[in-house]
Amino acid sequence: MLVLGIETSCDETGVALYEVGRGLLGHALYSQARMHAVYGGVVPELASRDHIRRVLPLIEQILESSGKKLGDIDAIAYTQGPGLAGALLVGASIAESLAFALNVPALRIHHLEGHLLSPLLEESPPPFPFVALLVSGGHTQLMRVGGLGDYELLGDTLDDAAGEAFDKTAKLLGLPYPGGPAISKLAESGCPGKFHLPRPMLGSGDLNFSFSGLKTSVLNLVTHHQPLSEQIRADIARAFQDAVVEVLVGKSMAALKHTGLERLVVSGGVGANRQLRQSLNHAATEHGCSVFYPRLEFCTDNGAMIAFAGAMRLQRQTVGDHAFSVKPRWDLADLTAP
Ligand code: KG4
Ligand code: ZN
Repeated sequence: MLVLGIETSCDETGVALYEVGRGLLGHALYSQARMHAVYGGVVPELASRDHIRRVLPLIEQILESSGKKLGDIDAIAYTQGPGLAGALLVGASIAESLAFALNVPALRIHHLEGHLLSPLLEESPPPFPFVALLVSGGHTQLMRVGGLGDYELLGDTLDDAAGEAFDKTAKLLGLPYPGGPAISKLAESGCPGKFHLPRPMLGSGDLNFSFSGLKTSVLNLVTHHQPLSEQIRADIARAFQDAVVEVLVGKSMAALKHTGLERLVVSGGVGANRQLRQSLNHAATEHGCSVFYPRLEFCTDNGAMIAFAGAMRLQRQTVGDHAFSVKPRWDLADLTAP
């Protein structure tokens, strides 16, 4: 069974082909980051228009590189939500029209389920159950994952998501969008301990997060150290990253303890952060647990995770009427097994 995956929830157009029994045959991605960087963040209308330009050529590209034809496709998985409504509608309308034309099922995938399952695309994937730390631009959640569609929310952010905090802090430091990779790079030359920022909610006794206060702390540092030297910017980036990483690691270990589970799966864009990976690996080893990540390119949005989630949900799907809607807001815990 060959599944085509289409991801258009935000500023990345991703497509992939996944064959059940064989694995990932091909994937392609077009990132709009440079287009949005001029505006300091994603401009939804520009994102939708660009997805329209990219999706079909990318599909043709992966079909050709995988030696497959449109007629070989058995199902089309696409991101139904959450995300930007206009951007989602582009993927939905193309996926449903193609599925109608090919007379195959369309699989409506939750974007976060895609992220959450993405480490299972790697060799030696973790068996269920596990704890998942989802850290993206829009979400920071700890989930107990019992199986496909069995997601229990353990903790959530009360305000900004981790990735959002990276992006906003980057702006304060005069770094380009997206902020995560830029802060991560700058923090490498920062002096650890030069500045100390709060560890929000680390001792709250629950598994929730709050990151919006950190940007105020960063703003205070920035205001007090004008004009910012390159070294001070790096020191602030390091202090910010240390704070976020310590909180994410502390809460993840608490979630493992709370659930009694020994496997942690990390996904979403912030999961690409090198310092976060090092600290999580270290803490997990100390707790006798293992951590699983997607490869770096599948931490951020991509079509492979959508094709894969589609393949996992394929068994029970039938060809529907292809009437569709998107879900810009959609709780992961509302999903059920296929
Ligand atoms: O998962 P993702 O591609 O999109 C959403 O579903 O939101 O995550 C994007 C987020 C952005 O906020 C970006 O700044 C952050 O992930 N990010 C990083 C890194 N790479 C991407 N944050 C920290 N360190 C990184 N290396
Ligand atoms: Zn995402």
